[in-house]
Amino acid sequence: MKSLQVGLGARSYPIIIKNGILANIGADLKQRKFAKRFFVIADSTVADLYGRQLLASLKQAGYDTEILTFPAGEQSKVLSTIGALASRLAQFGMDRGDGLLALGGGVTGDITGFLAASFMRGVPFVQVPTSLLAQVDSSVGGKTGVDIPEGKNLLGAFYQPKAVYIDSLVLQSLPAAELLNGLAEVIKYGVIYDRDFFEFLEGNRQKILNLDLPVIETVIESCCAIKAAVVEKDERESDLRRILNFGHTIGHAVEADSSYQLAHGMSVAIGMAAACRLAVDKGIFNQASSARVVRLIADFGLPVAIPENAAAAKLKEYLQTDKKTVGGKVFFVLPTAIGRVEITDKIDDNILDRVLGG
Ligand SMILES: NC(=O)c1ccc[n+]([C@@H]2O[C@H](COP(=O)([O-])OP(=O)(O)OC[C@H]3O[C@@H](n4cnc5c(N)ncnc54)[C@H](O)[C@@H]3O)[C@@H](O)[C@H]2O)c1
Ligand SMILES: [Zn+2]
Repeated sequence: MKSLQVGLGARSYPIIIKNGILANIGADLKQRKFAKRFFVIADSTVADLYGRQLLASLKQAGYDTEILTFPAGEQSKVLSTIGALASRLAQFGMDRGDGLLALGGGVTGDITGFLAASFMRGVPFVQVPTSLLAQVDSSVGGKTGVDIPEGKNLLGAFYQPKAVYIDSLVLQSLPAAELLNGLAEVIKYGVIYDRDFFEFLEGNRQKILNLDLPVIETVIESCCAIKAAVVEKDERESDLRRILNFGHTIGHAVEADSSYQLAHGMSVAIGMAAACRLAVDKGIFNQASSARVVRLIADFGLPVAIPENAAAAKLKEYLQTDKKTVGGKVFFVLPTAIGRVEITDKIDDNILDRVLGG
């Protein structure tokens, strides 16, 4: 078992990483005394796969518990889902002494966190992430929220979980495309923060893709440690936390331009490769290191080229309307070395045109 701590004063919490922990979460929660009952929130797919096992573990530990489900997919990450779940919790008589438990991917975690932040003005919640993306990214850091027609994640709150339980065994059932989605974020951590981890990824590509247990556990632990370190220093994204947006500036533009047909991880992979090219053209990153990052992304089976049908002018419009654009300024997270990045809004238009033009 590996246990990390996200140090946020009174809002600190543990990240517990252990194969098979799903069957023992009830016993562990019992010692921590976060709540007297737990309502498990899961999407339909994950509830079918792992709901029974988790409920059994909670009941065995003496918890009174219920599972509430919603249809799997990003289209469920909307206010009406929050409203429907809140009504059912109220009907069950949930009170402030009870807690929520998010069992699932990033959609479930974001929904459950937002629900926990707002139900009776705040109840405790626990994350049990089951997709790679959720295990290395969305379950840690306290960003919660839902999408509205005007944009993704526009309505939300910072609200930290009480604990995060990660069982890498559940990744065995994750579709290959979802694994790739998470791997884009994994590569991101190496480039922005940790050269040794980047080299570990280079040396263990096949084992990672095969979900070799010790290797995938090391990957998850390294990513959570980096995310925890960044969040500890900047919980509300005023400064350092923005480095986590590496690959997400152009990535979001490409994703939006595809009307969200291109998966998030694919878009981030393209965005990271584009950020490397911008950094080389700007003269702050050497060509050999850039080629190395782009090769690692491609070796994992992720795309690195701007889609042919994405026009540069259109992508630039998306950059201007991105919610991370401040006062008309588009900020780019650019590598200066493997393991180090800087944030800048100073990119010559001709360099941007050249990189976006493919
Ligand atoms: N809060 C944050 O900091 C943060 C960070 C990054 C992304 N996000 C959000 O996370 C969401 C994306 O997360 P995601 O990719 O996990 O999406 P998701 O929750 O929709 O999960 C992807 C798919 O995988 C399925 N699944 C999950 N675990 C499984 C398992 N073990 N076996 C089989 N199937 C499984 C789900 O049912 C779903 O169909 C987006 O809404 C994004 O905005 C949030
Ligand atoms: Zn992302």
